[in-house]
Amino acid sequence: MKTIINIQLSQKELENDFLECLRNREIPSRFSYWGKKETFGWLKVCKSKDYGVYDKGVDLVTSNIPKISKCIQKSGHHEFNFISLGVGNGIKDSIIIEFFLQNFEMKYFPIDISLDMLNEGMENIRQNIKTVGFISDFRHFSDISELIRQNHYKNHLVSILGNTLGNFGQVEILNSLRRGMTKDDFLLIEVTLRKDAGSKIHGENLTDIIESYNNEDYKSFVFTPLIKAGFSLEDGIIEVEYGPNQYYPKLSSIEIWFRIGKDKTVNYADQELVFKKDERIMLYVSHKYNQENIHALLDGNGFKVCDCYISKDGLSGMFLSNLK
Ligand SMILES: C[S@@+](CC[C@H](N)C(=O)[O-])C[C@H]1O[C@@H](n2cnc3c(N)ncnc32)[C@H](O)[C@@H]1O
Repeated sequence: MKTIINIQLSQKELENDFLECLRNREIPSRFSYWGKKETFGWLKVCKSKDYGVYDKGVDLVTSNIPKISKCIQKSGHHEFNFISLGVGNGIKDSIIIEFFLQNFEMKYFPIDISLDMLNEGMENIRQNIKTVGFISDFRHFSDISELIRQNHYKNHLVSILGNTLGNFGQVEILNSLRRGMTKDDFLLIEVTLRKDAGSKIHGENLTDIIESYNNEDYKSFVFTPLIKAGFSLEDGIIEVEYGPNQYYPKLSSIEIWFRIGKDKTVNYADQELVFKKDERIMLYVSHKYNQENIHALLDGNGFKVCDCYISKDGLSGMFLSNLK
């Protein structure tokens, strides 16, 4: 079946956005995936033994998809636009599509910041399904949602998998989702769970979480956007930290920073940017949840959880919800 890609954000707009982020010393996660090298960096992380989170997610989706489908069937709706926020390598979406096509009429709408990721991900969708991919930022979800609703089915199944929710300001992302949804839509979220998420004191048993990020594959993945700006790894050091989040005290977060080793001037988009020794650039943030705080977060932002699916080891979970 023919696949269409709808470009809502131009490369020039993204370039200007990236410049602004460099000035602010904060690289939002969208830029970790924007570009060929970045995309391949992420695909490598998915295969990396040090970063076990991805495989756990695939297992969780595979083992729970029949239950998710049953729960959605109870709504009585049989036609859905499947809107996937962040296609990645497309494997989880493909598992969902395979199963859902047995029970529902479905069309597929992956939304992603990265054209390279969208191309890679859509390659892995082998099923015969009408597909329209969007190059956009999740912040524009409500406009795209409206566009899809007008031209396709009335109801959406929206997914945000792979702890992608944890890379954003929580109120910002949940509000953006809510604005694009109606009460008949479903939202499927997959997040990483940790018992210590939100505790005031961390310090014990942190080796596992720090090591999932403090390894060559992950560090190289999160550093790649800075190469675009003219940095190299020799210009400083990467620091990985885990602790309570300053804005969301009930969550804990991994933060990855680049500390500049010596004064450095770079050029990006014809602009000169001066960085001083010991300045830090935020490369990546990933919030971690527990079952209680993800429920509270959804509840506090206008969603009601209809079902949840937790992995046997309790380290990842999927939450299916509707608008209240
Ligand atoms: C952590 S990966 C998860 C991929 C996939 N859902 C999975 O679970 O394997 C995040 C995905 O979201 C996309 N992404 C990240 N931030 C985005 C943003 N602000 N707007 C649009 N896409 C974004 C990335 O390009 C990537 O495909």
